[in-house]
Amino acid sequence: MRILFSSDWHLEEKFVVDPKRQSRDVHLLAAQAREIQPDVLIVAGDITWGEDGVYEKYLSLFDDLNCIKLAIAGNHDAAFEVGPRHEEELAMVLADLGFHYLDAAPCCIDGVGFVGTMGWYDGTLSNPTETKAIPISDPFAGGPRVIGSIQPRDAVWTAKMLARLDAHICDIEEHVRAIVAVIHHVPFVEFLDHDLFWTHPIMGSRRFGQLLLSHQKVRACIYGHAHTRRVQEMGGVLCANHCLVGHPPSWGMLETRASGPEIWFQRNPL
Ligand SMILES: [Fe+2]
Repeated sequence: MRILFSSDWHLEEKFVVDPKRQSRDVHLLAAQAREIQPDVLIVAGDITWGEDGVYEKYLSLFDDLNCIKLAIAGNHDAAFEVGPRHEEELAMVLADLGFHYLDAAPCCIDGVGFVGTMGWYDGTLSNPTETKAIPISDPFAGGPRVIGSIQPRDAVWTAKMLARLDAHICDIEEHVRAIVAVIHHVPFVEFLDHDLFWTHPIMGSRRFGQLLLSHQKVRACIYGHAHTRRVQEMGGVLCANHCLVGHPPSWGMLETRASGPEIWFQRNPL
């Protein structure tokens, strides 16, 4: 099974990226996907902040791809909260466009299970003594906000996302030979670059990494949010972050093989 994956398209988000570049890159990704003809396409969150029609405009580029399409929410898709947009609205929008919403339910394909969650952050990727909160003008909050600060609700949301992911893994692990986990936020502190230490509190949670390592059949993890091109094994789980908004923009491939050991690898960044 050949799995094409990418995250963090940030389409038409003028305050974050160059909209023209993002539009160009997602068209290029769609063209390359048609050449590759993967068995599975995965989008690991932050497709867009959610202006009207953006999902339809860009996800329809993958309409004629004859494969199973999976997606999860990112914090941008969910408008920076665990709420109705994340829980219900995205599921409907994505279903209309032929994408299975992994946050709501796992998916099993030819003996491989796929589970997913937006995840969240709780400060456990940072050392508080090394971290400083930085005030910024936040377009999402409509005013000043402090990046790097953790609110009481963040631990609650992280626990909720963890419990749901654990339940999804438990639901399928007896029935599959391997599991691919898709998490928008960063699951391991080792994946963060030290020079971005001030963003660490809001990048993810160690608890997602611990959860993945506690389930033997989890063999790969596709994550987003960090905007860095990285492939790194952690305790037998091959983890990869390929983002269209990254420098350079990239996508990745995982491949599973039914006979013998399963082989996971990356190739052909954009
Ligand atoms: Fe993100």
